[in-house]
Amino acid sequence: MVKSTGQRSKKFKIVITKDGPYVVSGGVPLSERFTCVDNDDQCHGWKEGQKFPIQENYALCRCGRSSTKPFCDGTHAKIHFNGTETTSRSPYLNQAEEITGPDLKLTDAQGFCASARFCHRADGTWTLVENSDDPESRKTAIEEACDCPSGRLVVWDNGGKAIEPEFEPSIGLVKDTQAGKMGPLWVRGGFRSSRLMVTHTRSEIE
Ligand code: FES
Repeated sequence: MVKSTGQRSKKFKIVITKDGPYVVSGGVPLSERFTCVDNDDQCHGWKEGQKFPIQENYALCRCGRSSTKPFCDGTHAKIHFNGTETTSRSPYLNQAEEITGPDLKLTDAQGFCASARFCHRADGTWTLVENSDDPESRKTAIEEACDCPSGRLVVWDNGGKAIEPEFEPSIGLVKDTQAGKMGPLWVRGGFRSSRLMVTHTRSEIE
């Protein structure tokens, strides 16, 4: 889904190069984003980590083998990285199933999932939406969908408006503290990529 922040995002761009890195231009802010874990050992919320100095242009590793991650160091060429895109280009809503509750609707495009697990808390986003006439369930369903970095889950109010957080255009390097893993890249703020992103985003994809 898209959450545009207007004119400022238009100068930002990501080009997904053939068998190579993501080339980012326009001075897009880049920072680490750590998943938080609550007392019940459930993923709940985000914490910002290191902020990288703003660079007008930079290349982010896509092959996973750079020795200077998150940046590309050219290793992709030495290892003959095959960066063929495999993800559907179909718009989000064409891929999403709908779950309708009394006070919220949920759209769920499973193919977008980044396994970030924010949707597991309480009884899970799907059950929470089905029970959304309960204020606490409604609130938790919204929090979980808004925490999801992949854009898989979107909650909608009864007026048909998507409930999504406002983001400044930026890229987050996701660090899953519970699973001890890095990734995906979280592209936020509604700017465009010139090719389909391998990792899904809350930004629009051309
Ligand atoms: S894409 Fe260049 S080193 Fe990974």
